[in-house]
Amino acid sequence: MAFTIAIDGPAAAGKGTVSKAVAAHFGFAHLDTGLLYRAVGAKMLAGVDPVAAAQGLMAEDLEGEGLRSPDVAQAASKVAAIGAVRAALVDFQRAFARRAGGAVLDGRDIGTVICPGAEAKLFVTASAEVRAERRYLELVNKGHETSREAVLADVKERDARDMERAEAPLKPAADAVVIDTSEMSIEEAVAEAIKAIDARLGE
Ligand code: CDP
Repeated sequence: MAFTIAIDGPAAAGKGTVSKAVAAHFGFAHLDTGLLYRAVGAKMLAGVDPVAAAQGLMAEDLEGEGLRSPDVAQAASKVAAIGAVRAALVDFQRAFARRAGGAVLDGRDIGTVICPGAEAKLFVTASAEVRAERRYLELVNKGHETSREAVLADVKERDARDMERAEAPLKPAADAVVIDTSEMSIEEAVAEAIKAIDARLGE
């Protein structure tokens, strides 16, 4: 059985945590599509042409903690605005989405562009301040040196770039269930997500 769960939302909204928990709950495979753009962004920072990097992306390019750095996040949102980069990554994402046994994909355009026919669509969001605080704690825990101000500025800059780009801009699909996690714990956000997906599975 193929069943696609699309989870979109702005930077550091907790999509990754919710997606992993949802995938574990339903026994589905999970793809963090942000990693694809981060890997291309990292290659651009290393001097590779981003379109060539996207066309030649390999599984091992998606590994390594370095992809989680703020510099790579910024580079990711820049290469993500290039239509030919996005186009090179479409087939892989769609094939993953329709694999037997079900799939969860999280990103920016999964419910709108990559999988408009997804059986369940969520848009996970939170205020920019809450998202920046969560990302700040995450980065500091991983040993990155940064400040709350720098993280908030990064989050706002990427959101603006992601929402304003011509290609696959960040926005909720018309049929997505919006979950605002500003005042929710992880457990509450996961429970809300599972409830929304159960409702679609039962249809
Ligand atoms: O973890 P965080 O939410 O900060 O970012 P991410 O999901 O790893 O995505 C990094 C960047 O990749 C985003 O700012 C987007 O510009 C881009 N992206 C995208 O354009 N489309 C996707 N499906 C996923 C990520």
